[in-house]
Amino acid sequence: MDLLTKITEVRSGLDVHRAEGRTVGLVPTMGYLHAGHASLMTAAVGDNDITIASIFVNPLQFGEGEDLDSYPRDLDRDLEICRAEGIDMVFAPSVEEMYPRPVDTVVTVPTVSAPLEGVARPYHFSGVATVVAKLFSIVGPCRAYFGAKDWQQLAVIRRMAVDLSMPVEVVDCPIVREPDGLALSSRNFYLTADERAQAPVIRRALDLGIELVVDGETNPKVIESAMATKVATAPLGELDYAAAVPAETLVADSVLAGEVRLLLAVRFGKARLIDNDGAFIREV
Ligand code: PAJ
Repeated sequence: MDLLTKITEVRSGLDVHRAEGRTVGLVPTMGYLHAGHASLMTAAVGDNDITIASIFVNPLQFGEGEDLDSYPRDLDRDLEICRAEGIDMVFAPSVEEMYPRPVDTVVTVPTVSAPLEGVARPYHFSGVATVVAKLFSIVGPCRAYFGAKDWQQLAVIRRMAVDLSMPVEVVDCPIVREPDGLALSSRNFYLTADERAQAPVIRRALDLGIELVVDGETNPKVIESAMATKVATAPLGELDYAAAVPAETLVADSVLAGEVRLLLAVRFGKARLIDNDGAFIREV
């Protein structure tokens, strides 16, 4: 496995494989890897001849007062995980390598980015879309792998790739959870023992919402307030949003139909955790 820090090294390293007609898969990450990231790597290694993982804590997607400086980092451990997954190349650039001068060109996907996460984090998805566009341009992957855990991020990236005719297949991978239902996240690292014990309330709130959707509830307010009430049973959790929206657009609708996505953001102390699940409204 090669560890590369320069854009030119990635390009020349991959050109050799492309010339031989090999397919290239990309797994973008911010490091502090866990089994959720590893599941993306397993899928990518299975589908492609050559797989490259990127590890880069992208300053552009962190807002004022967010956790850029305290974001957990452990490159040695990350490299072990990549090696065990059969990754061929790791691209771990410095901030100077990715952004040698102040960024002027950005990618924005305003409609998909505005609701939900976009309310609390107005510049977040533009930072994500810009760095992912840059990684696509550096790596030129045939396929790129993203987790359904960050559902809105996935929607932003899909839309960007379609709108800009990027020659890459965006592949989504299922959410990996702890046995008690908590979605794996690098930010779970921030949880105290008491917060960790209460955090699975998020999964239980989603279960309750799914039950309502499957039973044919079409009023998003009813589903949202049931999920909010469930989250409120955890005294250390502070709800940011509970949403029941059409899975395609993520834009609130007064009556739900077809495929619905339930999305939650809950703050536990220093950690802001997001999770989601989906179901179809039962036709009655
Ligand atoms: P990061 O939070 O490190 O996540 C990297 C990828 O792992 C994302 O596609 C995310 O959805 C996926 N992932 C995280 N937890 C997961 C889980 N429990 N199950 C399945 N997949 C999971 O998301 C980012 O980094 C960044 O925004 C990035 C796309 C790398 C751009 O900087």
